[in-house]
Amino acid sequence: MARQTTSKSAASARPAPAQAKRGAATRTAGRAAGREGLSPEQFGASIEWLGDHHDESIARLVEWLKIPSISTQPAHNADCQRAAAFATMQLTECGLTAELCSTGTKAKPGHPIVMATTPGDADYTGPHVLFYGHYDVQPCDPLDLWESPPFEPVIREARKGERGGTRIIARGAVDDKGQVMMFIEALRAVQAATGKPAGGIKLTVMLEGEEESGSANLEPFVMAHRKELAACDICIISDTGMLDRGAPAITYGVRGLAYTEIKLHASNQDLHSGLWGGRCPNPITELARVLAQLHDDDRRITIPGFYKDVTPLAKQERANWSKLKFSARDALKQIGLPAAADIGEKGYTALERQWARPTAEINGIIGGYTGEGAKTVIPAFASAKVSFRLVANQDPATITKLFFKWCQQRTPPGCRWELVDHHGGPGVTCPIDSPHLQTAMQAIELGTGKKTALIKTGGSIPVAGMLKQRLDLDTIFMGFGLDDDRVHSPNEKFEIACFEQGARSHAAYLCLLAARH
Ligand code: BES
Ligand code: MN
Ligand code: MN
Repeated sequence: MARQTTSKSAASARPAPAQAKRGAATRTAGRAAGREGLSPEQFGASIEWLGDHHDESIARLVEWLKIPSISTQPAHNADCQRAAAFATMQLTECGLTAELCSTGTKAKPGHPIVMATTPGDADYTGPHVLFYGHYDVQPCDPLDLWESPPFEPVIREARKGERGGTRIIARGAVDDKGQVMMFIEALRAVQAATGKPAGGIKLTVMLEGEEESGSANLEPFVMAHRKELAACDICIISDTGMLDRGAPAITYGVRGLAYTEIKLHASNQDLHSGLWGGRCPNPITELARVLAQLHDDDRRITIPGFYKDVTPLAKQERANWSKLKFSARDALKQIGLPAAADIGEKGYTALERQWARPTAEINGIIGGYTGEGAKTVIPAFASAKVSFRLVANQDPATITKLFFKWCQQRTPPGCRWELVDHHGGPGVTCPIDSPHLQTAMQAIELGTGKKTALIKTGGSIPVAGMLKQRLDLDTIFMGFGLDDDRVHSPNEKFEIACFEQGARSHAAYLCLLAARH
């Protein structure tokens, strides 16, 4: 934690006008710098640069957010290309050697990956850092629920009843362009303060354009660049959240994901429900009956072998989490639910269920007539999207196999399954005693003046599992989002205060490493 001292730091000695209202955190951060083995002048100057150039930083983010880089929709292929080119330009301006790399094959091209590097000073002794982010975004539907068009970013104050402060509203604001931009602005600040790209540290940046659509081309790309990537010592990703406003955190674990689609076929044609109802299978009813068996009365998953590889929750971890300032009741209230809605696998708290227990979710169910009015029909088929969030040691391919077998064993009479294995990836955990994690925690404390909480997330970032499996590379998640940022939903937002804390923390991280010469 950054403690107050009476000595003046570079940042507080030369307050910049634009910084006046953000003074307190900056001063605390600057003061602590002298005690952390980094150059207080360079760190102070980086913080000052961020304050002075705040409006330009936000303007650059706005420009990037205007590009509708929806990776899953082919109509936006050119936009993905443009978003990648924009990032390449930004990183070039930071003094890195940046390249837009094509992916996929000629017949099936993918979205480009941005690779940027800086070799670092010859006498740099710190870790070679890999920073990963993604420039692609989720689709925007339902469009009519957006208060302003998703790719026309709006910066506005919080309205009555809304928590937090000034925010930027756009698709990709927090997931993940806004968070990548915090890092890019930190690079600019540190370059200005030290006169060297990334302050003279050894850095590789990899920005993907298919994170939201299955990362089909990432693994072959990583393997093709194996030599360079395996040389990295630690991966930093800013694509997660904090514990709460003013409670910055490092996420030391993400869950894995196995995503499937199961389609149940019955008759070879749609049928009149008066003539055929009660005489043959209705695939919607039969599918629902199967899906209803996924959980038992304790809300545990019933697939045999599903929990076989699950690492039980450690006593210490449970104790640590119970001390975090988190209220399941408050969180439920935010999404319009009463305390009675705190349900899930029996025997675990909400945080434990989200961070350390696997889950099965039906993400979509499709079948029959869903248009206006009524139509008495028994459809020929019905389908569902079913996904599993996985924890340490569970293998997505194994889980999918077990689930498909479970479905086969429950095939309704006369019906047939079509089972599709979509994308997925394993979960990862970074050991909390990792020295890299300690440095990142120190950076957040310097950048925000607050103590860093250690948390996990229920979300998935498949690249981290892949880097661990393929290159034995650990990842630290330094994210600055909030639970109510509406990630993947209409009116996605990123609060400016979070952006600032993130940029300062990343600058602190770079400065801490830059001191290792
Ligand atoms: N950045 C998110 C994951 C996330 C969001 C983690 C908020 C923690 C807090 C990421 O872009 C994402 O959406 N991941 C997907 C998986 C992917 C394979 C589509 C997810 O978790 O569903
Ligand atoms: Mn993301
Ligand atoms: Mn996402």
